[in-house]
Amino acid sequence: MYLQKLYLKDYRSYEHLLFEPDPHLNILVGENATGKTNLLESIYYLAAGRSQRTHRDAELVRWGSDGFYIKASLLGSPVRHTVEFLYHKAKGKSFRVDGVRRNTLADVIGFANAVIFSPDDLTLLKGGPGERRSFLDSEIGQVNRSYLRSLARYNRVLSQRNDVLRNLRRSRNSKSTEDLLLEPWDLQLAKSGAAIVTARLTMLHRWAAGARETYQEIAGPGENLTMSYQCSFFGEIPLSMQDKDLSITKKDMEARLLDRLGESRVEEVGRGYTVVGPHRDDLAMFVSGRDARYFASQGQQRSVVLALRIAEVRWMEEEIKRPPLLLLDDVMSELDAGRAQRLARLVGSGVQTFITCTDLSDLNLGRSDGMMWETGGGDVKTIGP
Ligand SMILES: Nc1ncnc2c1ncn2[C@@H]1O[C@H](COP(=O)(O)OP(=O)(O)OP(=O)(O)O)[C@@H](O)[C@H]1O
Ligand SMILES: [Mg+2]
Repeated sequence: MYLQKLYLKDYRSYEHLLFEPDPHLNILVGENATGKTNLLESIYYLAAGRSQRTHRDAELVRWGSDGFYIKASLLGSPVRHTVEFLYHKAKGKSFRVDGVRRNTLADVIGFANAVIFSPDDLTLLKGGPGERRSFLDSEIGQVNRSYLRSLARYNRVLSQRNDVLRNLRRSRNSKSTEDLLLEPWDLQLAKSGAAIVTARLTMLHRWAAGARETYQEIAGPGENLTMSYQCSFFGEIPLSMQDKDLSITKKDMEARLLDRLGESRVEEVGRGYTVVGPHRDDLAMFVSGRDARYFASQGQQRSVVLALRIAEVRWMEEEIKRPPLLLLDDVMSELDAGRAQRLARLVGSGVQTFITCTDLSDLNLGRSDGMMWETGGGDVKTIGP
């Protein structure tokens, strides 16, 4: 699958843009603030249904406009699909696939898949738990539509359950009244919560193994990368286990979450919100056993996120049986020669790649085929092969 045509209207700095990229390599060069990241962001949006930079669609609307529109032609073998996203500040989002209106995001995700590398990736490590969760959610969501449905269901139940908790906090009730009002929500929350955590763990076990391997290649034999899923109702779950040791089932998860909701009753009613569940979980990364957030050097931290991204590309390729689009935003200039080479090896044949830079001399890619584009003046113009 590759992106054959992209049309943007009122998306960020683009009033109108028609972009017909090369099926293989696209090098986008332009000065700062000329729309390079904006363009890659719109391609990522096609794949994930959200920006990698923000979850607020209103920020993506060109200043002074009411909404944005993205239309893309994706050429697979052998079929072509047209995917459209329309966002209006007052009316919200709508989607179409091949001209037919679809109701949910889950129905438009997965026609394109993309992995983006950017200097902001360090926030995966250094940012808050919410950033790591939304990262997991959009990556898994790209390849697993039922995950997006579970997530939507979970968030709906969570918000309704929180309404009940807020009401209970205001009034004085007996324990049995609280149980009576909350138990139906507990059951639903535990069910969809367990589905979410199970899907996250399935992905993470494979992904962590890939990241561990890649980290070894980048950093050499003296260090290792391990990860764990920090579950608010199950405790710390190491991600370095072999598949055969993966003994926690969805039923186990559901039962444990249900128990913990029961045990947290007094605390939850006191606070007026739900304190356990996948919306409170986190992912931790360790370099040679120490939490990379606090103890890894800058170079080690960069290597950790690079290893995570490369593992993500491999994981996604296995899942969807074809390589995802690769979006490399301004990353080559930041990497030393060895790491740049590793990344460049991913830019193999059959992977449609988009690389941005401000200066072509920063690009130590070791190959020169593909198409070059210049960004500026709200446009993207070809400057030759
Ligand atoms: N919603 C918006 N509406 C209009 N313009 C916007 C909007 N959001 C961002 N911009 C403009 O887009 C510009 C940034 O574009 P972008 O991030 O794509 O630049 P870039 O080419 O990647 O630059 P750099 O090389 O610095 O990374 C901002 O300077 C801003 O003027
Ligand atoms: Mg940029």
